[in-house]
Amino acid sequence: MIGDAPLWWEDGALCLLDQTGLPQEVRTLRCASWEEVADAIRALRVRGAPAIGLAAAYGLVLAARAGAARPLPECLEALRRAAAALRTTRPTAVNLGWAIDRMLEVAGACRDAPSLPQRLLDAANAMARADLETNRRIGEHGAALLGAGARVLTYCNTGMLATAGYGTAFGVLRCAHEQGRGIHVIACETRPVLQGARLTAWELLRAGIPATLITDNAAGTLMRGDGVDAVIVGADRIAANGDVANKVGTYTLAVLARAHKIPFYVAAPLSTVDLATASGDAIPIEERRSEEITAIGGVRVAPVQIAVRNPAFDITPHRLVTAIITEAGVIRPPYKDGLRRAAPAGAPPVPRRSRSAPRAR
Ligand code: MRU
Repeated sequence: MIGDAPLWWEDGALCLLDQTGLPQEVRTLRCASWEEVADAIRALRVRGAPAIGLAAAYGLVLAARAGAARPLPECLEALRRAAAALRTTRPTAVNLGWAIDRMLEVAGACRDAPSLPQRLLDAANAMARADLETNRRIGEHGAALLGAGARVLTYCNTGMLATAGYGTAFGVLRCAHEQGRGIHVIACETRPVLQGARLTAWELLRAGIPATLITDNAAGTLMRGDGVDAVIVGADRIAANGDVANKVGTYTLAVLARAHKIPFYVAAPLSTVDLATASGDAIPIEERRSEEITAIGGVRVAPVQIAVRNPAFDITPHRLVTAIITEAGVIRPPYKDGLRRAAPAGAPPVPRRSRSAPRAR
């Protein structure tokens, strides 16, 4: 099934829409073990902060199914080992640890091993439903900030591919389009892995949202030439003071937006807010392999001897952020107060068992 979600549970396995093939190839990857899920997260077959959290949650369902015949303490120990390994697959997005912690809470409350897989599957399904609902609310809050005919620049991919569906920053664009605001999206290609050119462009076309693709380097000249009314991006982690970790290049856009007096919005669920991290300085930044830069489409473009740095994310200081759009509403500076007020109240509760969720098979 290739529908409006990047992952789904089917016949005892996690199915992923393999994002490394898009847009040329729409293919499904079936993960039958948590180790396969971990590999898929590392290889960006599933990516985007909320989506990797969900993938890890289903990964823990697979870990529980593998150990369900053993006594509960052994089963929980195996689950904790899988959780620890999944947690390290990508260090920057806090949604990963957030989802894993919630799954471990559900497991901790379970009293017998045979029912553990179903309990966890119910929890993962509930988490996915909550994320979808959250994104719709983010979309509505954010769309109200965009004027008629706004030309909105976005970065990386924050659409249904990066979430349980609908998208965060992309959800704002989707909602504004659905409301008939006549917006035009400017999508940056997002080097080195081209999430903008490959994934956001694909989603924009599918959604019928008028859009133009640009190189990352063209953003400044468009802003200077009065071609951008607002910038909207997603986030992988938002520190307690409002500093934002997102795809590398986000900081550059924020500086440009400030220089040209263009509003710079961040759209993210409250599960992306990390109140335990005081500022962006304490957020771990993932370094990825050099081949992402030295080769394009599998073809080497840089000399073999050249040294490479490839940070996958950067930090945008909170002073450059006009507002943070969450499911609980639009938060404006000072972020320390606004985030503290919104996060505990708005953070989705630990999912409970639901009758309508699909059964583990
Ligand atoms: O390396 P990626 O593709 O996982 O990076 C994704 C981003 O930076 C997104 O902007 C972020 O996760 C928000 S997705 C709703």
